[in-house]
Amino acid sequence: MNKFFPPRIILFAASLIGTLAVIPFAVIAWTRSAPSSGRPIHIIQDMDYQPRFDTQEVNPLFADDRAMRPQIPGVVAVGQSRDDVHFSEGVVDGAWAATMPEQVSVTMEVLNRGRERFNIYCSACHGYSGFGDGIVNQRAMVAMSNADGPIYGTAWVQAKSLHDPEVRDQPPGQIFNTITHGIRNMAGYAAQIPPRDRWTIAAYVKALQKSQDATLQDVPPQERASLNP
Ligand code: HEC
Repeated sequence: MNKFFPPRIILFAASLIGTLAVIPFAVIAWTRSAPSSGRPIHIIQDMDYQPRFDTQEVNPLFADDRAMRPQIPGVVAVGQSRDDVHFSEGVVDGAWAATMPEQVSVTMEVLNRGRERFNIYCSACHGYSGFGDGIVNQRAMVAMSNADGPIYGTAWVQAKSLHDPEVRDQPPGQIFNTITHGIRNMAGYAAQIPPRDRWTIAAYVKALQKSQDATLQDVPPQERASLNP
């Protein structure tokens, strides 16, 4: 065999091609791992990019250049009228409603729903039994009694006990209002809890209060016998 076979030029070319062949893969690996402000190469588009406006974007079609349209004055969405102030504000004849609105009658189902919602939204501060001793309060007490004293400027207002005579005597409409708008240091829950659920919570709070403040007279006579004296 010829000692110049294969010729050097071919060996050289083969190794050069071999080296260059790695480059595309290296580039792909690099673009896949390095951050980039450009869009990724997107072969199958599906509906990923659509002609539309993002929130807060400019839209010159409108005189005020806003893509997001404000509510049209005087228009009320279906189901959002507040004409029924008993249901939407807890008010009857200018005073806190002493009864539940007709949309939410007190049934076991409503009370169970109220308990579930109360345990989710209220128990963290007010405690499962409503004494104002929820887990947040316990944590705050620990934070306030740090060895170095409370962090500068820290103040803590304990969630009120719902069995306080002052709260216990409140009609359901007033409890509903507290849940809706909050009170003093407590924030309102209108944004998280829809009105019907706020009523179920108000009903459950009344039941919870009764549970700590009942006499034998509150038990129906036919069931008294089954109670321990
Ligand atoms: C983040 C803690 C926190 C949560 C959660 C919370 N509360 Fe309160 N709540 C408070 C505090 C604090 C007060 C006392 C406010 C004050 O006196 O400044 C209070 C007061 C009240 C009162 C007494 C109002 C009055 O007239 O004095 C009621 C009733 C009440 N909350 C019901 C609820 C219900 C029902 C929920 C659940 C929907 C709830 N709270 C969720 C902290 C909370």
